[in-house]
Amino acid sequence: MNNENPIAIFDSGVGSLSIIKEIRNALPCENYIYLADKKHFPYGKKTHTELLNIVQNTIEYLSKNFSPKLIVLASNTPSIQVLHEIKKNDSEIIGVFPPIHEAITVSKTGHIAILATQNTVKSLELDEYIQSQNIPSPVKITKFNASRMVELVETGDFLSNKEKSRQVISEELSMLDEIDNLVDTITLSSTHLPFLNEYFTTLRPGLHLIDPAKLVAEKATKLLEGNFTTAAGKGRLEILASQEKRSLETVIRKLGIQEEIREICLDF
Ligand code: DGL
Repeated sequence: MNNENPIAIFDSGVGSLSIIKEIRNALPCENYIYLADKKHFPYGKKTHTELLNIVQNTIEYLSKNFSPKLIVLASNTPSIQVLHEIKKNDSEIIGVFPPIHEAITVSKTGHIAILATQNTVKSLELDEYIQSQNIPSPVKITKFNASRMVELVETGDFLSNKEKSRQVISEELSMLDEIDNLVDTITLSSTHLPFLNEYFTTLRPGLHLIDPAKLVAEKATKLLEGNFTTAAGKGRLEILASQEKRSLETVIRKLGIQEEIREICLDF
C-alpha cells in the first residue's frame, strides 16, 4: 500500500469527528477521507445482519474508490458487533471499543457504566467483549442505552437546542442513577457522545468521562509506522455524506469545520 494513500474514517454521521480530531492531531500531514453515512443512521438501531451488510459494503466502497492505507471504523456499534466478521481486503481496518481498563483506573467506587447505543447494549458481542477484558471481581459494570443522547448530537440539537439537550441528558443520567447510583465513571462508547461532555460535566460534576479517541489515534499511529506520508504541512480532509448533506453541513460548520461536503450515493 502506497504511503501517500489516504486514511478513510467513517461512522453513521458526525460521530467520526471526535476520532478524526485525535488522529489528525497525531498525524497532521496525512490525507483523510471522512464518510458520514447519514443514509444508515442510526447504526445503533440496526439488526446484526443489516449492520454487517452496511459495514462490509461501505468498506468495499471506500477501498474501491480511495485505496485507503488504513480504514478507521470510527463507531463502537459495528466495531463491537460485526468487525470480527468483516472480510478484509488490502486496507488495514481498526475499530473503537469501550476503554474499560482506563475507566477502572480512574474510578474510585469501582462502579462503571458503558454508554453505548440501543442494540449494542443488548448484544451478545458486548457481553463477550466485557468478559474478554478480565475485569477484577469487585468492579461493577452497567451497560446503558445512550441512543437518545446520540440523537441529540446527530440532529445538531446539542448546539441549537440547549434546553432540550440539557433536559434529555438530565433524564438519562437520573435513569442511570436509578440503576446504580455508585457509578462515578462512564465510557463514551458511542463516538457521538464526546460532543456532550460539557453537559455531562455541568449536570454531574466529578463524573469521569472516558473517551477512547486517543487510544484509537495511538493504534493508528503504531499501525502506520514506516508507512507515513512523505508530504509536509497539513494534509487534506475530504468529507463525503451518503445523504442529507445540508444537515451535516449545518452541524459541522458550527463545529468550525470549513471543508466542502460532497454527497455520494451508496446503493445498498
Ligand atoms: N457513533 C456510533 C457509535 O459509536 C453510533 C451511532 C448510531 O447509532 O448510528 O456507536
